[in-house]
Amino acid sequence: MTGGAGFIGSHLVDSLLADGYRVSVIDDLSSGSAGRVPAGARLIELDIVDAAGVQRVVEEVGPEAVYHLAAQASVVASVQDPGRDCEVNVRGTLNVVAAANAAGAPVVFTSTGGALYGDDAPMPTSEEREPAPLSPYGAAKWAAEAYVKTWGLANDVPNAVARLGNVYGPRQSPHGEAGVVAIFTHKLYSGERPKLYGHGRPTRDYVYVGDVVSALRAAAGRRGTYNVATGVETDVSSIWRWLREAAGVDIEPELADLRPGELEHSCLDATWAQRELGWRPEVSIEDGLRMTYEALVTEFEQAE
Ligand SMILES: NC(=O)c1ccc[n+]([C@@H]2O[C@H](COP(=O)([O-])OP(=O)(O)OC[C@H]3O[C@@H](n4cnc5c(N)ncnc54)[C@H](O)[C@@H]3O)[C@@H](O)[C@H]2O)c1
Repeated sequence: MTGGAGFIGSHLVDSLLADGYRVSVIDDLSSGSAGRVPAGARLIELDIVDAAGVQRVVEEVGPEAVYHLAAQASVVASVQDPGRDCEVNVRGTLNVVAAANAAGAPVVFTSTGGALYGDDAPMPTSEEREPAPLSPYGAAKWAAEAYVKTWGLANDVPNAVARLGNVYGPRQSPHGEAGVVAIFTHKLYSGERPKLYGHGRPTRDYVYVGDVVSALRAAAGRRGTYNVATGVETDVSSIWRWLREAAGVDIEPELADLRPGELEHSCLDATWAQRELGWRPEVSIEDGLRMTYEALVTEFEQAE
């Protein structure tokens, strides 16, 4: 797995270890941390832009499957430095898929559903909609998808693309620019006012991390492109209100304009994944927010 020291990757490592798999993680720890890699998995500190390094590790490990999650995952950072975003998200993905497929291992690649379809797409948006990304991050993920598919076809290996909605859950960092659930929970915990970009009106398709893990596992060894989301659109103000009630704290947010590259609305039609992978999201937004709030507060307390 690449990116196993990150938010989603660390949950996926847990799930694979629990089922008795041996897991090796490539991660450069740029946004992840070694402490997040569960004991029992092997961590190899490496930048996926290093093609020879990636090839060496894949040859040595001889994986049954490769989950490729490592990414420059910030829309805002991609606008500030599109070159580095391209290097990691396009070139890095090419390196991973070329090494994996040369070793006969299928790849599951985590693309974006939230930053791909643009503002004019019908909601919920199906995989058949032509992408129209507004950010370098979305453009790079789209280009990377093409490499994943092309390499799979050329090498006759079933590679899968998972287009994720807005993922939330325990272990998500509150210090990134995305991940409103973690950011709001941290603000409430520390008694600070959060900023609601787009004046709290933008909507997203929030999907619980445990549901994403089960979708990624179901996609291993399948050839196709799958939206991984709930099909439920929730606005940022509602997320803030739920969390504020859970915290029992009365803080007024600051309202701000959307940042460059950010969409007004995003909601994904995941019926194809449900039909093809036999997967469906199990966790409602209310249950997911409650579980996430409680877990994150415990994490913040332990970090003090
Ligand atoms: N969190 C979401 O809502 C969301 C939505 C859509 C897609 N995704 C995708 O899912 C994947 C995982 O996202 P996440 O939320 O867990 O992010 P994350 O930042 O927590 O994890 C990414 C991991 O990749 C590692 N990494 C970054 N650049 C690297 C490089 N050059 N070489 C090696 N490792 C590198 C980081 O250190 C980190 O551990 C990413 O591909 C992201 O684009 C996430």
